[in-house]
Amino acid sequence: MKTEAIVLAAGQGRRMYSSMPKVLQKLAGTSLITHVIQSLQTISVSKTIVVTGHMADEVKHHIAGKNIIFTEQAEQLGTAHAVSTALPELQDDSVVIILYGDVPLVGKDTIRKLINVVASDTIGLLTVALEDPAGYGRILRDAEGAVTEIIEHKDASQDQLKIREINTGVIAIMARHLRTLVPLVDNNNRQKEFYLTDIIKLAKTKGININTVSPKSPIEVQGVNDKKQLSELERSFQKNQAEKLLETGVTIVDPKRFDLRGSLQTGKDCVIDINCVFEGDVRIGNGVHIEPNCIIKDSCLEDGVRIKANSIIEDSEISTNAIIGPFARLRSGSKIMAKAKVGNFVEIKNSQIGLNSKVNHLAYVGDSLLGSEVNIGAGTITCNYDGADKHQTVIDSNVFIGSNSTLVAPVHIRDGAFIGAGSTITSEVPVDSLGIGRARQKNITGWKKPNKKSDR
Ligand code: UD1
Ligand code: MG
Repeated sequence: MKTEAIVLAAGQGRRMYSSMPKVLQKLAGTSLITHVIQSLQTISVSKTIVVTGHMADEVKHHIAGKNIIFTEQAEQLGTAHAVSTALPELQDDSVVIILYGDVPLVGKDTIRKLINVVASDTIGLLTVALEDPAGYGRILRDAEGAVTEIIEHKDASQDQLKIREINTGVIAIMARHLRTLVPLVDNNNRQKEFYLTDIIKLAKTKGININTVSPKSPIEVQGVNDKKQLSELERSFQKNQAEKLLETGVTIVDPKRFDLRGSLQTGKDCVIDINCVFEGDVRIGNGVHIEPNCIIKDSCLEDGVRIKANSIIEDSEISTNAIIGPFARLRSGSKIMAKAKVGNFVEIKNSQIGLNSKVNHLAYVGDSLLGSEVNIGAGTITCNYDGADKHQTVIDSNVFIGSNSTLVAPVHIRDGAFIGAGSTITSEVPVDSLGIGRARQKNITGWKKPNKKSDR
């Protein structure tokens, strides 16, 4: 049977108090709706229909290009009303999986399990018993244990509120049943909304059974309605990710102070100290040690690299046994070769630092190509920008740049050259020569310090 999916994403999310639609709020660096779409992509549904409404253009733009059909719910009259906009897109003989855009972590195994219980006379409903079921719709069962109804928190009696089994919002159902049941839903409830959850009691009247399935972990079905729930889910999600890495042997000094907003591949014997944030696609080799408070984004760190505290690394490649930081910033396009050192308060951008070269303190190296065994003194600046265009600085191997030098690009400093401290270098320096470009020192003997007015 074909599987088609409907994702509800039209709501504003009033409880977020945000100018952004709720489904665009981020969990681990990725929007809630993108988490949902990614889950669906792993089970290869034949069609994904996203219902938009509040700030529809922003939501559409955000997930454009992912082979999605959009329908619009101009007025948000409830979840059943939202589903009704998607009905014309469905094929009668397909199984429809309905997900809520604010329940971001439903896993592929859970979705598959739910689809597998669907039959011509059976609806699959994902439910879970929670310690704290507040806010969720409750599952009512008869004496035999069969599901009879879902009652929303706001409509529930005191006794019903004690029920811990909740509706996760995830339903799998034959398209033709959905077509029959949704138009029968009314808005006769506390919120005056057309509740999708009402199709359960309507299904019973048509002789359709409800089969429930539970997720592996309650985190999969946690809904996000406010910032508190968002932050709680973020921490649970991060804890899960940290535990998975710990299981593979990575040392994470404190899993509560670890954040991964993307993917992280690790080798053996890696140590990640506290408060590090990994974003995008990060790969680290064997024996990599990352000290506290580092942010590492879309980068590759080879074996034995050490990142000292408070360093920020983005879109960079760092080769074996290189040492970065503390307080270093590697911007986009930095390539640090083996055993090189980049020290404190150094910024590197779009540059290659060669084998065993050192840029140890207070420097800016931009659009530069450095050979091996180069030493860049403290306070050195490559002037790569002339106010209109960027230019390259080439420094060949075994070059020594004295402290506080200014290298005005385009410029080439050839093999073995030596630059005197405090120089402004504007033209090529030949092989094995001394380049010096600074005013000569002048000493005035017998010079008298001016007197202060008050001393007169
Ligand atoms: C809903 C369920 C509740 C369940 C909970 C799980 C209903 C009536 N209630 O409650 O049983 O326990 O989710 O998290 O379904 N939406 C639209 N159009 C609308 C209204 C909502 O597209 O007119 C979308 C929202 O953008 C959101 C999702 O549907 O992504 C759920 O809506 P929300 O208002 O968050 O429902 P809950 O109160 O969480
Ligand atoms: Mg919700």
